[in-house]
Amino acid sequence: MGIKVTISAKTGLADIDYYMVGISQLPGFDQPIKLSSNESVLGMSSAAQKAASAAIGSAHLYLEVDTEKLANVLSTRYSLSSDSIAFGPGSDELLQRIVNAFSGPGRELIHSKNAYMQFPIYAKVAGSTPIAADDNDLRYDVDSILSQITDKTRIVLIANPDNPSGTYLSSVDVRRLHMGLPANVLLIVDAAYEEFADASDYESGTQLVHEFDNVIVTRTFSKVYGMAGLRLGWCYGPSWVIDLLERIGPSFPINCAAFAAGIEAVKDQQHVKKVLAHNCRWIDEMTTQFRGLGLKVYPSQTNFILVEFPGGEGKTADDANSFLNQNGVIPRQFMVDDFRNKLRFTVGDDAGMQKTIELMTQFINR
Ligand SMILES: Cc1ncc(COP(=O)(O)O)c(C=O)c1O
Repeated sequence: MGIKVTISAKTGLADIDYYMVGISQLPGFDQPIKLSSNESVLGMSSAAQKAASAAIGSAHLYLEVDTEKLANVLSTRYSLSSDSIAFGPGSDELLQRIVNAFSGPGRELIHSKNAYMQFPIYAKVAGSTPIAADDNDLRYDVDSILSQITDKTRIVLIANPDNPSGTYLSSVDVRRLHMGLPANVLLIVDAAYEEFADASDYESGTQLVHEFDNVIVTRTFSKVYGMAGLRLGWCYGPSWVIDLLERIGPSFPINCAAFAAGIEAVKDQQHVKKVLAHNCRWIDEMTTQFRGLGLKVYPSQTNFILVEFPGGEGKTADDANSFLNQNGVIPRQFMVDDFRNKLRFTVGDDAGMQKTIELMTQFINR
């Protein structure tokens, strides 16, 4: 006898596409060169690691985290107001929480068409409508975003710098976007890669939080601090929004190891400098070498580059991906129309980068 299902989830949830994470295993390779997720190959600072290990001793307790301590470290490092910071298990969870709070049925969220692929998912989970604004060869087009505003718009969500393109919006462009928003629209700036951005006209979204009351910025320990597996993110916004996010968030938003490691990670800026120097070196080198092979490389302000292949017989991104996989390297492939002929490469260690450049040279010249 069949079971009659009478419960139902919210409309639309079952239609949400899975977010595809980068693959990490290759049959036949014990330790493939994994360049498919935007992790930090140099890991976290050793001081942070020690702190995390020590904290595990208290893992049986619900941690009454003194978030003020972590907020103070961040506020000192980034010149912020410590009572305007909320924490969560990764910026992903915070973004979802913010969108849930400000969006919902009958409301629209605008994002750029090829932005971070979770954005439309956040909107749908909240029961609201994602609106994809056209871009300009993967770069955000401010006018196109502004042209999508209706009286239903409640959120404009940008990643600056963005993933998977690696491109960014200048301070002038972000401010022009903000200026064009009605006062009842929240601008969310997902700044997961902010620490890598070194363009002279890049401006931290936190500056806008200081000036306006409809901006919130999300940040993460997953990228430059090398703590992706510990899950620690934070956001900076108006204090009433922070208060709201804390009310609707998990009772214990941060685990004990992430909390302890986070404090030490921010204090260890020597490690951050090392990570940034390594990143800068290989972003420049990959960009130069791949362009030298005649490939289009999108200029990156992040810890990865996006490469477009010429296409044609034996020279598609799919062909390159297979060739690299056969030789133990995993770039990131996206099964999405505008990315069909592109692969993304995260910065790896020196040996991994050298091998990847060698293999790409062989692939193009074969
Ligand atoms: C643009 C962007 N935003 C947010 C995230 C989520 O990061 P996390 O949840 O690890 O903080 C990522 C992760 O890759 C990302 O690329």
